[in-house]
Amino acid sequence: MSGARLIERVRGLAAGGDRVVIGIAGCPGAGKSTLAGRLVEGLAAAGLPAVWVPMDGFHLADVALEALGRLGRKGAMDTFDAHGYLALLRRLRAETGNVVYAPSFDREIEQPIAGAIAVPPGTRVVVSEGNYLLADDDVWRRVRAAMTEVWYAEVDDDVRLDRLTRRHVRFGKTRDQAVRWVAEVDEPNAALIRATRDQADLLVDIDALDLTDGHAATWSRGAGRSG
Ligand SMILES: Nc1ncnc2c1ncn2[C@@H]1O[C@H](COP(=O)(O)OP(=O)(O)OP(=O)(O)O)[C@@H](O)[C@H]1O
Ligand SMILES: [Mg+2]
Repeated sequence: MSGARLIERVRGLAAGGDRVVIGIAGCPGAGKSTLAGRLVEGLAAAGLPAVWVPMDGFHLADVALEALGRLGRKGAMDTFDAHGYLALLRRLRAETGNVVYAPSFDREIEQPIAGAIAVPPGTRVVVSEGNYLLADDDVWRRVRAAMTEVWYAEVDDDVRLDRLTRRHVRFGKTRDQAVRWVAEVDEPNAALIRATRDQADLLVDIDALDLTDGHAATWSRGAGRSG
């Protein structure tokens, strides 16, 4: 599945005129955020105004995690405000006459930031992404139902673990801390996420796509061709 084919697929879903919400699930470090960013660029270049709204914006803040005793496993399913995310997804589909603001997640401080992302009335496509979009759990099943389609980002596990560890180091962990965090926190979550793969509407092979900076803008030019 090429970038151009992804754009064409979304164009088809948006043809009815309703705002479309695409979700991207996948293991930690699979490339969900990178793909979402490129997809939004590619859609805009194809004439479909799109905004990226990450599930990561619904990380509970440290102050709340501390009160719950869950600070040590930030990123696990019960460290997100799933009901808040569901409410926002519903608003994004229903409220197309006013700007809807979404929270972002700042990796430098590892905290959510309220009101950081504007979704203006003309937005045709919302691209959301996160670990648990396909989880078999009551509220997460409703999150899934609030999306038009959910895709699953796949990448070779060795490549993923290498990228994930490097990203932790880039955001301030020592190499040892990064390796430990991946083994003790990220990978138990990965096992749960991997089990949801078969629920996806589409499997996306991350390394078969050109996700280099700026290239997604050219995806629209190839749209309509096979690949
Ligand atoms: N196709 C690619 N080629 C090279 N590096 C990539 C590619 N895709 C993603 N990366 C890098 O891999 C790392 C993980 O990617 P990304 O942050 O998009 O994953 P994610 O699935 O959103 O992870 P998380 O679940 O932790 O949010 C990042 O440092 C990113 O720059
Ligand atoms: Mg991400």
